[in-house]
Amino acid sequence: MTNLILPGLVDVHTHLRVPGGEHKEDFTTGTAAALAGGFTTILAMPNTTPPLATVQVLEETRQHAQTAIYCDVGLFAGASAAHLDQLPYLATYAVGLKIYLNDTFGLLRVDQLATLQACFERWPRDKMIALHAEGQSIAVGIGLAAAYQRPVHFCHVSRQEEIELIAMAKRQGLPITCEVTPHHLFLTTADAERLGSLGDMRPKLASPADVEALWAHLNTTIDCIATDHAPHTLAEKQSANPPPGVPGLETSLPLMLTAVKEKRLTLDRLIELMATNPRRIYQLPAQPDTHIEIDTAATYTITNNLYTKCGWTPFAGMTVSGQVKRVVLRGIVLFEDGQILAQPRLIKCGEQTSPTSLKEAPAVMGEGEKRILAL
Ligand code: NCD
Ligand code: ZN
Repeated sequence: MTNLILPGLVDVHTHLRVPGGEHKEDFTTGTAAALAGGFTTILAMPNTTPPLATVQVLEETRQHAQTAIYCDVGLFAGASAAHLDQLPYLATYAVGLKIYLNDTFGLLRVDQLATLQACFERWPRDKMIALHAEGQSIAVGIGLAAAYQRPVHFCHVSRQEEIELIAMAKRQGLPITCEVTPHHLFLTTADAERLGSLGDMRPKLASPADVEALWAHLNTTIDCIATDHAPHTLAEKQSANPPPGVPGLETSLPLMLTAVKEKRLTLDRLIELMATNPRRIYQLPAQPDTHIEIDTAATYTITNNLYTKCGWTPFAGMTVSGQVKRVVLRGIVLFEDGQILAQPRLIKCGEQTSPTSLKEAPAVMGEGEKRILAL
């Protein structure tokens, strides 16, 4: 039974693994997982193989996406010292520029100040720069936002000192925003020990004090919840050299709805964190006639039976309340009672859902679409 209708959610941090990692996830399985999790727009990260750091790779990937996606997808361009000359052209095809200041999965990493300066000078001012910044790299990002007086978005903030520094910088009026992931809100170092490599990601899980600090900033400093959906196969995760990253598209909304039920945040705040703010920060177009329907009374245990190709989740065994029953995108029912209803190629993504159209379309979701119905 549906008793809650919300706007289509937006995930600003998804790894879809195309090109080069299609055995972990592809556009079709990743966007099916998105729909099952209540997301109608997702922004895909550029740490692919090869990375989305040249016009050729980005444009080929965009063309490929148009034949294979169930929901709207925007692509990030990745910053790399070798391709700085391409930045203005990459911006034509991308929703934002991702700069990796710390080591993580993939080869994209910027560690020279001159490269950072070139990125901040050449990337168009009206498009977001998103930073993977851990620890003192947060201070680097704040310094760049201040020096260049332009918006910067911090990905997956996870530590008390990081969120407190961001809060201070925001109080000074700097144009910065940030996201946190559900795994950093719901899991701690104790879970990392229990889960082994299945609980390893970047940033790593943190202490209970760090988790508490994130919750304390959820109504103020934190702008959005992002999944950092980072699928790797079970075999890869159980290998001698497991890659960091965990999937999250299908578990994020149920976890956050459970927190609403437990009165850890309000439903209005959830909508801001998972729909309104992500859309505003990345200037994503409204999606008319789009909503998701939820049964808030459905209480169930998370299993590994998921749409994501990787087929596992660190949240398996957790009991949550709130199940996505139906997803309607531009008037078409795409997901209902656990089933994907459309063929991806039937979605007219060339006209309405292409990443190119994301940058051209108007701004934010209207007030009337915020929450349509709550019985
Ligand atoms: C991500 C991945 O696997 O691509 N892994 C992760 O642990 N979060 C990369 C990233 O976002 O850092
Ligand atoms: Zn990521």
